[in-house]
Amino acid sequence: MVAARITVNGKETPISPAAPHTTVLDFLRERGLTGTKEGCAEGECGACSVLVARPGVNKPTDWVAVNACLVPVAALDGQEVITSEGLATVDESGTPTALHPVQEEMAVRGGSQCGYCTPGFICSMAAEYYRPDRCAHAGPADGAQSATGAAADPEHGPNGFDLHALSGNLCRCTGYRPIRDAAYAVGTPAEDDALAQRREQSPPAPVATAYTRNDSTFLRPGTLAEALRLLRERPDAVVVAGSTDWGVEVNIRARRASCVVAIDRLPELRELRVESDHIEIGAAQTLTEIERRLDGRVPLLAELFPQFASRLIRNGATLGGNLGTGSPIGDSPPVLLALEASVVLADADGEREVPLCDYFTGYRQSVRRPGELIRAVRVPLPLSPVAAFHKIAKRRFDDISSVAVAFALDIEDGIVRKARIGLGGVAATPIRALAAEAALEGEPWTAQTVDAASRALRAQGTPMDDHRASAGYRSAMLGQSLLKLYARTTEEVSS
Ligand code: FES
Ligand code: FES
Repeated sequence: MVAARITVNGKETPISPAAPHTTVLDFLRERGLTGTKEGCAEGECGACSVLVARPGVNKPTDWVAVNACLVPVAALDGQEVITSEGLATVDESGTPTALHPVQEEMAVRGGSQCGYCTPGFICSMAAEYYRPDRCAHAGPADGAQSATGAAADPEHGPNGFDLHALSGNLCRCTGYRPIRDAAYAVGTPAEDDALAQRREQSPPAPVATAYTRNDSTFLRPGTLAEALRLLRERPDAVVVAGSTDWGVEVNIRARRASCVVAIDRLPELRELRVESDHIEIGAAQTLTEIERRLDGRVPLLAELFPQFASRLIRNGATLGGNLGTGSPIGDSPPVLLALEASVVLADADGEREVPLCDYFTGYRQSVRRPGELIRAVRVPLPLSPVAAFHKIAKRRFDDISSVAVAFALDIEDGIVRKARIGLGGVAATPIRALAAEAALEGEPWTAQTVDAASRALRAQGTPMDDHRASAGYRSAMLGQSLLKLYARTTEEVSS
């Protein structure tokens, strides 16, 4: 097997002697690339953002921004990374001769004061600068009307820049307006822009990796069968995809594993298929990939994605990971419960499909057995037409929910034919609100029914008092969510 290597700013660099748990952030900084900063080491500030060449959605390659503090460098064996130092134009001696267009806009519009957050903002901004379909959202400035009369999207600039690209980057001294000004001023890449041209070629293929140092191993199997065999032999192995959860454990809790198995590039886990009666989403697709590939086809998921952490996290995080960790406050389970999704579990003996409502068995526990992987998530079709996801948190974006509610209702001739309600943050596991569903089904969709179901919803689960919210507040928010949905549907009918 070839020695593990990573290409940084066009230069191949051996990963050795880094330890298997060494993050990309530490690896880069130890090699003098100190533009990449550590702020939080847990995926919340974006100071460590770098660009990675990944399989593209609309072009062969996308430049994807990720949190370097969360990703083990061994996970990028054979891959290409660009840091803030690699964006500027340099001469043959390596001396920078011109700023990158994104750096230029940040400089001239006053987007940087102390500069600590700036390289991270620059990398997140550069990823959006190179997003191939960015200009499809281009329109007039905020509040104006386009030539076709469509209102400008307040979260996209006139250049199509999606502000969510920066939702994982924090700045504590400049203020966000000049940064937004810079984002909304960047143009389109020039014809001879090397990183724009790079998008036209295939990304680096995944490399089967077996990287060992000091009794600790990072493994990337090449096929699902190999991964399942490995997990049977090593049931103690930690399975990672985007490492957005495990990276926090490594950095903040100093956890170490003797064996880490990466499954995020397994082709069998990366398909997205739309069949006549269901959609199958590969468990190792990133949330960004699913969002872009589904392109609004599942409205409840489309509502979920912008509220799920930040773009930097969504560029690595997967549905398989979110279900695999089994957190009661994961963002995707309430939505997937309302959609009546199931998980396809695979081990070396075969596959089984488990309805998500039967998957969770206790706090961070599930029916998934040692040696089993989540291969895919299936969402049955047709979808219920009335749907909403309400995430109640202290911040609108990039926050952990106090409580989360997802609704999927079939309402025909004014009668609720079917109601599915998924809840997070009110019990040791994500749950269905069965009493509230029963209070709705077969009843007319009226204020009286909704009032009764809202009372039933408030009584669901066993919410706790903690630093995020009181139990009373959580219960109240459950009830309010249904009233809010009812208000929205009646407004739609009367407008
Ligand atoms: Fe804060 Fe990585 S250091 S997100
Ligand atoms: Fe100082 Fe952003 S420029 S933290």
